[in-house]
Amino acid sequence: MEQGEIDAGIQHYYSNVFDEDARLTTRSAQSALEFIRVQELVGDRIGAGSKVVDIGGATGIHAAPLAAAGHEVTLVDPVEEQVAKAQRHGTFPAEVGDARQLRFADDSFDVALLFGPLYHLRTPEDRLKALREAARVVVPGGWVFAAAIPRFIHHAAVSLGREAPNPYPAAWIELLESGTPIPGGRFPAGHLHTAEELQTELTTAGLTAIELHAIEGPAGFALEQLPSDEDLLQAALTLVRRTGHLKAIRDLTTHLMAIGRTPSPTTP
Ligand SMILES: C[S@@+](CC[C@H](N)C(=O)[O-])C[C@H]1O[C@@H](n2cnc3c(N)ncnc32)[C@H](O)[C@@H]1O
Repeated sequence: MEQGEIDAGIQHYYSNVFDEDARLTTRSAQSALEFIRVQELVGDRIGAGSKVVDIGGATGIHAAPLAAAGHEVTLVDPVEEQVAKAQRHGTFPAEVGDARQLRFADDSFDVALLFGPLYHLRTPEDRLKALREAARVVVPGGWVFAAAIPRFIHHAAVSLGREAPNPYPAAWIELLESGTPIPGGRFPAGHLHTAEELQTELTTAGLTAIELHAIEGPAGFALEQLPSDEDLLQAALTLVRRTGHLKAIRDLTTHLMAIGRTPSPTTP
C-alpha cells in the first residue's frame, strides 16, 4: 500500500473508527500499563520545565499530564478532530502537522516525543525524515523518544485473531521477514519493527546514547485481553521495570520505546 493510502486511512481511522482517548484509559488492563510506563520512561529522564514537542500526540493523552507536571508542551498531529480534542485541555497548544516536515525552527525544544508516526510510515526514508525532523527541532544534548510496534507481537495478535490457513499465508511471512503490514487490517499500519531495526534507524538519524525498552513487557499482550485490574497492573509493572531492557523482551512487547540524545560535546 502506498503512503498516500495509509495517510488517508489514518484520517478515517482516528476520526471515525477508533477512540484513541480510550486506548490508554479504559480499553483494557493494558491501557494503564502503557500509559504509566510511557510517562515514567519520559519523566525519569527529562529535566524540570522542559520544552516538549509531542509529535503524533493525538488527543493529548501524554501531553496533558506532562503539561500538568510543569513542562511546556506543544502537540502536533495530522488528524484535525484529534487536535481539536487536544486543544480542549487548554493547558498546551495543539496544531495540525506532519512528523516528516515540522514547521518549527532548529533547536526549538528540549525533548521530542514520536509515539505513533514510526509505525504509520511505510518506507525507511519517511521514518528517517520523521526522526531527523524530531532531532532537528531539539537542542544539542536533548532527548528524542520514539515508539514502534514490534512485528513479532503483531504477528501473534493476527494469528490469535484469525484462523491460520494452510498453506501458511505469504503475507504473514512477509510481515515477519520485513515488517510489511498484513493487508486488510483495520489499523492503518505502515511498518512493524524489530528492536534491532529501530536502533539502526535512530543511529542513522544521528542520535546517540540509544536505549531500547519494552513499554508494556511480557504481560502486556495478555493484559490487552483483560479488563482493568489493579493487582494485575502492579504485577505487570514490576515485571517490565525489571526486564523491559532485556533484548528478548524488547521484541515481545506490544510497544517498544527507543530513547536517543541529539549529539553535543557533553553527551556520551
Ligand atoms: C496510536 S496513536 C498514538 C497516540 C499517542 N501519541 C500515544 O502514544 O498514545 C498514533 C498517532 O500518530 C499520528 N500520526 C500518524 N501519522 C503521522 C505523521 N505522519 N505525523 C505525525 N503524526 C502521525 C496519528 O494521527 C495518531 O494520533
